[in-house]
Amino acid sequence: MNKLKVLSVFGTRPEAIKMAPLVKYLAALPEFESLCCLTGQHREMLDSVMDIFHLRADYDLNIMQERQTLSSITSRTILGMDEVIAKAQPDLILVHGDTSTTFAGALSAFYHRVPVGHVEAGLRTLDKYSPYPEEMNRTLVGDIAELHFCPTANNLRNLEREAVAGEKFITGNTVIDAMQTTVRPDFVFSVPELNELDFGGRKVITVTCHRRENYGEPMRNIMEALRELALTHPELEIVYPVHLSPVVRECVFGILRDVPRVHLIDPIDVENMHNLMARCCFVMTDSGGLQEEAPALGKPVLVLRRETERPEAVKAGTVKLAGVEKAEILRLAEMLLTDEAAYNAMARAVNPYGDGHACQRIAQAIAWHFGRSAEKPADFGA
Ligand code: UD1
Ligand code: UDP
Repeated sequence: MNKLKVLSVFGTRPEAIKMAPLVKYLAALPEFESLCCLTGQHREMLDSVMDIFHLRADYDLNIMQERQTLSSITSRTILGMDEVIAKAQPDLILVHGDTSTTFAGALSAFYHRVPVGHVEAGLRTLDKYSPYPEEMNRTLVGDIAELHFCPTANNLRNLEREAVAGEKFITGNTVIDAMQTTVRPDFVFSVPELNELDFGGRKVITVTCHRRENYGEPMRNIMEALRELALTHPELEIVYPVHLSPVVRECVFGILRDVPRVHLIDPIDVENMHNLMARCCFVMTDSGGLQEEAPALGKPVLVLRRETERPEAVKAGTVKLAGVEKAEILRLAEMLLTDEAAYNAMARAVNPYGDGHACQRIAQAIAWHFGRSAEKPADFGA
């Protein structure tokens, strides 16, 4: 029997981190041919993930431009995908999550009548401008996809409520699979600033912030809150790997440059990042991925956004929505720094997002869909 040809399309750092284990898992199975196409929506931050997971791209559209617009990412991807799909002739195209690469990759597949599998399906805030443009991207991809790989039961309910067509599976999130290989107690950082930190004696806070809907005043408020926190708490160290977006860097460096105890460093590779989170005191972020990873490591998270599409860890008590106003962000950060009971209540390892076997379930679901396996995978959490 012919192998099933699966083409995974991704382009940003988080998609790569979450798709790498799946591309590799499929490649190791005899019934699959696993190909990968990078859009190159990100460049350095994407290449770093490919290196860590020893992955090689079969196709690379290399679309990134400085200060790129949503229209340029989308149109350049769709044009580039025409040739890739014509050449590769895949049986299935996999896209991940909610970026512009995700949406454009799925739309290209549809134009070529290739079925789409959506990994990390069913996340919703129900506010189409927050996160922007991600909420709309993932909703539109939901309509295009035939196979929906939902990380949690809550994500599947979101799709059912919208009466989204297609086959739906609860698989867990592949990022928990990725963490099985990246987090190691004996890990030695390859970034000098991280090796110099005294994780035992100081309170290290890990920070990231990059979302488009936070550009402007919300991001300035967040940076002002971090500045005040660092100036008023001599016991802490803020480690902030700053996203390469020039819009983000102007804001961050404009407010936090030369503030004592704030370490503004370039993005770090995913192994350094996961091990930094594993050793820090708590996390402040507007990132989606960090909201899934930190709870698995038992680290409290303050989410620097007005809403979240990941309510599972909020319910479990590990994550709190801090919003984008300075006073509330400061209040919650001070609580974690000064109230041991409140800290301990949040610092509990919970794994609502997966058990490390998401790739196995996704592979089995694909095989089942194409009649190559008699058994549908059991749901995560069942
Ligand atoms: C994108 C995704 C967002 C995701 C985030 C993960 C969209 C619309 N946004 O947002 O959903 O959460 O990635 O980080 O799909 N840049 C570099 N080198 C890199 C990466 C980025 O220089 O390796 C700079 C470029 O100037 C680029 C800018 O960052 O134009 C913004 O990148 P872009 O992908 O448009 O937006 P992100 O904020 O990264
Ligand atoms: N990450 C990383 N290096 C960094 C910052 C983040 O490897 O300097 C990882 C992080 O652990 C997570 C992913 O990147 O796996 C999250 O990406 P990002 O915050 O850019 O996007 P989002 O998850 O918000 O879409």
